[in-house]
Amino acid sequence: MNSNSDFLVLFLAPVREFLEDDSVSEILINGASQIYVERRGKLELTSAKFAGEAQLMAAAANIAKSVDRILDERHPDLDARLPDGSRVHATIPPISRCGTIISIRKFKKDILTLDKLESFSSIPHEGALLLNAIVKLRKNTIVSGGTSSGKTSVLNAMSGLIPEKDRILVLEDASELQLQQKHCVYFETRKPDKNGEGEFSIRDLVIASLRLRPDRLVIGEIRGKEALDLLQAMNTGHSGSMSTIHANSPIDALRRMETCALMSGVELPLSAVRMQVASAINCLVHTMRLPDGSRKVVDISEVLPLENGDYKTSKLMEWKTKSISPDGTVCGAFRLCNRPSFAGEAQIMGIELPQYS
Ligand SMILES: Nc1ncnc2c1ncn2[C@@H]1O[C@H](COP(=O)(O)OP(=O)(O)O)[C@@H](O)[C@H]1O
Ligand SMILES: [Mg+2]
Repeated sequence: MNSNSDFLVLFLAPVREFLEDDSVSEILINGASQIYVERRGKLELTSAKFAGEAQLMAAAANIAKSVDRILDERHPDLDARLPDGSRVHATIPPISRCGTIISIRKFKKDILTLDKLESFSSIPHEGALLLNAIVKLRKNTIVSGGTSSGKTSVLNAMSGLIPEKDRILVLEDASELQLQQKHCVYFETRKPDKNGEGEFSIRDLVIASLRLRPDRLVIGEIRGKEALDLLQAMNTGHSGSMSTIHANSPIDALRRMETCALMSGVELPLSAVRMQVASAINCLVHTMRLPDGSRKVVDISEVLPLENGDYKTSKLMEWKTKSISPDGTVCGAFRLCNRPSFAGEAQIMGIELPQYS
């Protein structure tokens, strides 16, 4: 952490060692006397404690103050970022029933590239080749998965495959992505201030960004109404855009996009929204955190045209878990499934694809 965060570190003293320990990825404070950390994908209960609820509440209030927000009975929930880029979420009683709850997701200093994901067996070489073709052929892609399944990391790794010649606009709620290209322009949303004014949402950013001549839009996460604007952008020539969404399966990701688009308030029949989703999104990449704490790309699928009004996908690659040993180790294998419909396109462009039998 840097010097202007000294006062926060002071208030967060009981968890300071974890803030400074690079092997810790998350710190979960459940009231003053129960603190868990995550290391290598696994949660550990620590012996660290805050002196009491008042001290913990003071830490939360100071985090809120550092970002000019209020955390009190009327505003019991806070999303913020520490000066080092770590993301913090705080919730206080009576919303939380066991004292002040703070979760800190540490800012990752080293970027997970596709090569690194391959070396961790998070994706096989064939999967990496598929992702490369998907990005190079400008397929619009959504990375889906549960909380902390590795969506943002995969999005970041995929963004590394975007050619240098493209102008990339990065839109995020809280800045996490670190692209390697030179021609990248970063935007971040702004929360409403104490008076509830001045909000600039992801949706506002999507609309604004379209006037800034993007070759590619990279959006941190789709959570709401902005889905419709993104779908329209993807359908009107902004191909090769990518984002993430919280979902339990690839098909669920399409349904979530649909639900989010319907939240926009624009009167559109469901069938029209479905058609937009199915034509805007070309590929789905699904991530999962397995019981042994490892994260994997468990599915890469293509989106096909609607069939009888419902979504249809074609699986290109999948991970199949075969067994889970008593110590939690997961045994399984990746396997290639259907040949991509863009195989011909890839061949013309000289892009290598895995060998499909
Ligand atoms: N393949 C991976 N192997 C090891 N750690 C990973 C992997 N992918 C992500 N992580 C770590 O897991 C945590 C959550 O990852 P993140 O990409 O932010 O998940 P999500 O966006 O799904 O919430 C981060 O600390 C990240 O560094
Ligand atoms: Mg994320």
